[in-house]
Amino acid sequence: MVSGPNGTPNGPQQMNQDIVAYYRDRAGEFEDVYSNPEEQEDLKTATDLFCGLFAGKSVLEVACGTGWWTERIARVAESVLAIDINESMIAIAREKKLDGNVSFEVSDIFAFATDARFDAVFCGFIWSHILLEDLDRLIARIDGFVKPGGAIAFIDCNPVEGTKHDLNRIAKIDENGNTFQNRTLRDGSAHLVLKNFPDERFIRTKLSPVCQKIRYIKLRYYWITICESDHD
Ligand SMILES: C[S@@+](CC[C@H](N)C(=O)[O-])C[C@H]1O[C@@H](n2cnc3c(N)ncnc32)[C@H](O)[C@@H]1O
Repeated sequence: MVSGPNGTPNGPQQMNQDIVAYYRDRAGEFEDVYSNPEEQEDLKTATDLFCGLFAGKSVLEVACGTGWWTERIARVAESVLAIDINESMIAIAREKKLDGNVSFEVSDIFAFATDARFDAVFCGFIWSHILLEDLDRLIARIDGFVKPGGAIAFIDCNPVEGTKHDLNRIAKIDENGNTFQNRTLRDGSAHLVLKNFPDERFIRTKLSPVCQKIRYIKLRYYWITICESDHD
């Protein structure tokens, strides 16, 4: 049995805690997240920002999911290579038959290898699903894929009261401070999903080994961070 923050029992015993399996099984219903009317204004702000940032650039998109952002970035970028660990996600993205120089690859970001260096790396809604103890490794890897002075951009969820990202809906905190939420898919399967909500100071601290120029933007539902890689 999984324990909640106060040691209270929480949820069924057959709780799947595997984040990769959760997204594998969620692929067909994933894009529902983009239809919440309340989030449309933030999504437009974010889309405009990223389209400005990635115009004419070669972009590596990490954990692209069903390609919701890929579709938008591809309209302006010189090229997009979008990777995701789940074939089920990539299959939906490929079906979109996007215009432009777009390619997809099934790959784990912790194993992905390429000799290419990109003008920019985009990471949509993946930071929150990375264990705190793996973040430094992830950030160092991502930095290794950008050209000197290249851009690294993240977007992820703010905790918002009364929404599914309400901090009161955290079901478990582990010994490293990672937070988890209960989620149920349409097939009724129950999942305990890693979902961290970093604040600005934490994000800046984590990125400071690879970037000095860091811009943090707080929208109502999302935080966005754009930084410029320091490496030569
Ligand atoms: C919240 S979804 C975000 C999808 C997409 N970036 C978006 O914003 O619409 C998280 C994605 O991360 C992928 N993922 C999880 N762990 C991964 C890993 N280690 N390497 C690559 N992709 C991963 C999942 O398959 C899922 O598609």
